[in-house]
Amino acid sequence: MTQLKPILSHLDPILSSSTAAGKFKTSPYNLHRFRFHPRLTLWSFLFLLFIFIFFFFSPPSASSSGKRRSLQTAAFSPKARLSYNWEIKTRNSARTRSGSGFRVLVTGAAGFVGTHVSISLKRRGDGVVGLDNFNSYYETGLKKARKLLLEREGVYIVEGDINDADLLSKLFEIVQFTHVMHLAAQAGVRYAMQNPGSYVHSNVNGFVTLLETCKDANPQPSIVWASSSSVYGLNSKVPFSEKDRTDQPASLYAATKKAGEEIAHSYNHIYGLSITGLRFFTVYGPWGRPDMAYYFFTKDILRGKEIKIFEGADHSTVARDFTYIDDVVKGCLAALDTAKRSTGSGGKKRGAAQLRIYNLGNTSPVPVAKLVSILEKLLKVKAKKRVLQMPRNGDVLYTHANISLASKELGYKPKTDLEAGLKKFVKWYVSYYGSKKKSAI
Ligand SMILES: NC(=O)c1ccc[n+]([C@@H]2O[C@H](COP(=O)([O-])OP(=O)(O)OC[C@H]3O[C@@H](n4cnc5c(N)ncnc54)[C@H](O)[C@@H]3O)[C@@H](O)[C@H]2O)c1
Ligand SMILES: *[C@@H]1O[C@H](CO)[C@@H](O)[C@H](O)[C@H]1NC(C)=O
Repeated sequence: MTQLKPILSHLDPILSSSTAAGKFKTSPYNLHRFRFHPRLTLWSFLFLLFIFIFFFFSPPSASSSGKRRSLQTAAFSPKARLSYNWEIKTRNSARTRSGSGFRVLVTGAAGFVGTHVSISLKRRGDGVVGLDNFNSYYETGLKKARKLLLEREGVYIVEGDINDADLLSKLFEIVQFTHVMHLAAQAGVRYAMQNPGSYVHSNVNGFVTLLETCKDANPQPSIVWASSSSVYGLNSKVPFSEKDRTDQPASLYAATKKAGEEIAHSYNHIYGLSITGLRFFTVYGPWGRPDMAYYFFTKDILRGKEIKIFEGADHSTVARDFTYIDDVVKGCLAALDTAKRSTGSGGKKRGAAQLRIYNLGNTSPVPVAKLVSILEKLLKVKAKKRVLQMPRNGDVLYTHANISLASKELGYKPKTDLEAGLKKFVKWYVSYYGSKKKSAI
């Protein structure tokens, strides 16, 4: 249909110039003359030829749909063929097994949590499209390996940045997402002192860009996103409950996650977006993040390198509420399943929308020294340890989640203790780096 307009507009000048030249004294639509006039037959032949040429060589019109555009340009340039492929792959990846399935955009899908959440959604029949910029904060080889893993599961990851508003609206044009699982972020507490801008770029700017796209979408998706236990900052009341104060961040990372929670509040309030924030507590497991202690301890213990174990002032214990990935994934899926619809459309709010925040932890903090002794046992290697006082670079001494709210409203119930979870991590670690002969050890 969209092709019709340009054809007609090209047609107009031909008809009018021929009449102006006085070639047809009467209407060119006169069928009687048409049939017997040899010059008219020639003209109609040229006319048909023109239409023929037009169809085959016209550039894609700007108003044609994304699908049409890609199908046309695909025939001409290799670059366009690439874009044709990514659109098809995106559409296929978003396909649900049944009519009631979700269509979920997972940002940060090549990341640790994003990979696991994407696989679980796909396996239960939802449509999933990943988005990740594959940045080099940690080894990109690991992100690429996760991408391959997802491809085998039928999940396609689009390579792009959440700050790319054009790409985001294009994605929403291709797929009507029912949900967004937003996990893309600059993670890590210590790196913020080296590269503060990356935290603002992804966790603040990127989040706003994504929310802008979501509020404009019609229908608006429901959003579930990863905040962090780090928002509790210097809060010393344990266990941490959702109602506790979160206005004393100990790192820029924590400050940007806290900012995210406030930004979520405003988009919920103004545009009727349904938003659920999940405060993860030290998530670990297979395909994990190399910048986290359990991961680089494993690496260093295996290659006989000394590891630093931090303690607080007066030899106080540093402990974390380590949460196994499968438990967190269940919490993420439960948050998606219980999310109500956004109430706005086309950027306008129609009524109050859901705004939630939940702790997803394990409720049993483990001292870092204990973590190391479990790893020694599993790896069958004695660690070279050095105990140091924790530098003031953003880490907090202790985390402990109160999960009664998530348990009540999401049915969240963590099942894996640190020893069982680390066993699975170590098994994965050895096979991943062993089989690839990557000298991570
Ligand atoms: N793993 C944890 O213990 C933990 C704890 C608390 C909160 N979180 C939060 O959970 C989420 C997932 O964490 P993770 O451990 O999987 O981290 P991760 O670094 O493995 O995953 C994040 C992914 O997002 C991508 N990304 C970053 N910036 C992007 C951008 N601007 N555009 C597109 N992609 C971008 C990265 O390439 C990466 O693959 C993050 O929001 C993180 O802050 C994690
Ligand atoms: C945990 O949080 C709930 C509210 O979600 C609260 O009622 C309860 O007292 C908290 N428990 C502890 C031990 O702080």
